[in-house]
Formats: sequence, C-alpha cells, structure tokens
Amino acid sequence: MDRKTLADVDASGKLCFVRVDFNVPVEDGEITDDTRIVAALPTIKHLREAGARVVLASHLGRPKGRRVDKHSLSPCANRLERLLRHPVKFLDDCIDSDYADVSGTVDGTKPGDVVLLENTRFHAGEESKKPKQMLAFAKKLALGGKYDLYVNDAFGTCHREHASMYGITQFIDTCVAGRLVAQEVIMLGRLLAAPRRGFVAVLGGAKVDDKIGVVRALLPRLDKLLVGGAMAWAFFKARGLEIGRSLCTAESLAAAEDILTREKEHLSKLVLPVDVHMKRVNAGEGETKRVPYFHIRPGWDALDIGPETMRTYADTVLRAKTVFWNGPMGLFEKPPFDQGTLSVAEAMGACPGYNVVGGGDSVAAVTQMGLADKIDHVSTGGGASLEFIENKGKLPAIEVLDPS
Ligand code: 3PG
Repeated sequence: MDRKTLADVDASGKLCFVRVDFNVPVEDGEITDDTRIVAALPTIKHLREAGARVVLASHLGRPKGRRVDKHSLSPCANRLERLLRHPVKFLDDCIDSDYADVSGTVDGTKPGDVVLLENTRFHAGEESKKPKQMLAFAKKLALGGKYDLYVNDAFGTCHREHASMYGITQFIDTCVAGRLVAQEVIMLGRLLAAPRRGFVAVLGGAKVDDKIGVVRALLPRLDKLLVGGAMAWAFFKARGLEIGRSLCTAESLAAAEDILTREKEHLSKLVLPVDVHMKRVNAGEGETKRVPYFHIRPGWDALDIGPETMRTYADTVLRAKTVFWNGPMGLFEKPPFDQGTLSVAEAMGACPGYNVVGGGDSVAAVTQMGLADKIDHVSTGGGASLEFIENKGKLPAIEVLDPS
C-alpha cells in the first residue's frame, strides 16, 4: 500500500470525515444485506476507540442529484447503531441547508460520537463531470476546511471521481485509507502479483462492454478465462452463431468482436460455454431445454450455462492456484437459472488455491451457499475490483490520498 492508512495517523480528538460505501440493497425501508455496513465497522471502531469525532458520508443508489426517499441513508443509521451498540446521529442532509445544520452538529460532537450524513448523491455536485461544480460541492462537504482528517473506507466507490471520494481531499489536510480499503488493496493486489501458471478468472454478467478493460488486462496474465452469462452469448454472436432472443446489446457485441480481433494471440485462453440452459420466449415457467451452444434457436433465450459447462468450469476452478470470479453465469435471481452460478460458487469454496470473489451476484451466491468463509477474499467492490485489476492496482480515489 503506497498511501497512508489509519495506522499512520493519530486520530485522537480529531474531527474525521469518513467516506463509507453504504450502498446496500433496501426493500420497503428494510436493509436486505448489510455486508457493506459490517465491512466498515473496523474503521469506525478504530476511530471511536482513538477518541475521534466521526462523521460518516455515503451514497445509496443512483438518485441523480435529487432527494429521493427510497434512497435515504436513514435505515443505515439504525442498522449501524445496532451493530455498533452506540447511538448514531442521522442528519437529513450532507451539507448545511434547510434540512440540516451540519456545521452546528459537528461543532457539538464529543470524542467517540458518530454522525451519519444523508446521501451525497442527493446533490448534483457529487457526481458532476464539471470540475468547478464538483469541487464547489466538495468544499461544502468539507465545511470549508473544518475537518482534521479524511478517511476513505468506501472501496466499492474508489473508481469514481466524485466530490466525496476525490474532490474533497483538496479541502482536508490529512487524507488516508481506512481499514477496509487497505485490506482490499492488499488482497486484490495479490492477484496482480499472481504467477500466470494456474491463474484462472471466471467472468460473467450481462455486458461485455463493462468488462472489456479487465478482459484485456487479464488475458495476457492468466492460463484460462472462463466466460459465462450474457457475456458468453455476445461472444457466440460475434462468432456468427445463432443466439435466438438471448440478451446481447449492440455495445456488448461490439466489445466481443473487438476482443476476438485484437486479442488473437490470447484467444486460446478464452473459454466459452459448450452448452446452455435456454427457455422458449413467452412460454411462462414451462418450456426449457439444455442444448449444445450451437443449438440455440430463434425464439429461445439462453439464460444459464449448461451441465457440461458447469462440470468443466468447476473442474478448472478446483485445479486453479489462483482464481478470481466476478459476475453470474446466468439469470441468478430466477431459479432454475441460478444453477450455473451456484456451481461456480461451490467450486470456488472448494478450491484450495488463492481465491477472490467480487461483484453483487457472485458474492450473493457464495454467501447463499454458506461458503464465504472458504474464500480468501470477498471484495466489497464490483466495478471497483474490476477497475483495480484493469488499472494494475490504481484507482482514482486512492491515488489522491496522502502518499506513505
Ligand atoms: C457499487 O455498488 O458498485 C458502488 O457503491 C458504486 O456505485 P455506483 O456504480 O452507483 O457508482
């Protein structure tokens, strides 16, 4: 880790702005998975024990610069209070406004106090692409320079150059990585140092265009890249195969074609499914078939990898010395099309090599199967973990922290 971390600073009595990633799933006001809140606890506890005054900020969802009730962080305040067994003061805004007196509240805090600010993305400045607007908002978040210490513990958002992740470091003198960010950098960093022999990656999910960078970065460095989910259908189509009504956007197809033309020397490492589990379109729950990849027909929709692919992918994962998995193998949320993803999760859990899982559905699958403790590192970052690998360990919001 070439940036300062919490271990390098004395936080006692300091007023700290802590950016966390509490972007958790919320249904009808209830948090359905609090993994990311739990993951931030070591940093929050460290700061409280050091006698710091802790002000937490986060985004939740994509409210696009407007106040949207369902994206309020208020349920996170309640959950954090329970997990910490300590009161958390929730403020209805993240900057001084008619909704909240952030400056006044912060001035009144005592060592060990914890405040959680409302969603930073309720303001357009947070994600603004215009540097002036983004920095003006960052300055407001920083209360014009009131804070002693900025702690970035939001690994899942470190690929975003947003005001609370990036711009704010210009307005706070000391800026360090929290415990979670430091841990992610070390564990994901091991993938970058992994020897090529025995290095396997499993990539799935809906779009090739989202993953084209990571595919390019990984192909020269590993033995095998196993592809599943709609990413695979795009490769089938790019090779001129019939994919019926299977999901494949124009961008995804273009990205797959690009990889097939520009990565010729590494294509022998790219492994595609040999069979698929497909469903007839508009056939209700009814008609499904498992067929070889070249038997997908018009009017049918490939929704998962097939049994033969499950066996060979599991076998390859089991024998890997290092394995990284990101993205579901099919429509994980709709059984029976969760089988491919669950079979990869099972193999990951049983793989004796160094194994890392990142991304919402992949993490959900290992958790659902009770295998999370069999994985060396379960990353809290989906897009962030991919960009970390693609950019050889560099993420914009980590680069702006103080060098160690
Ligand atoms: C995530 O869930 O990947 C992070 O919280 C970042 O969210 P975003 O993709 O909406 O920026």
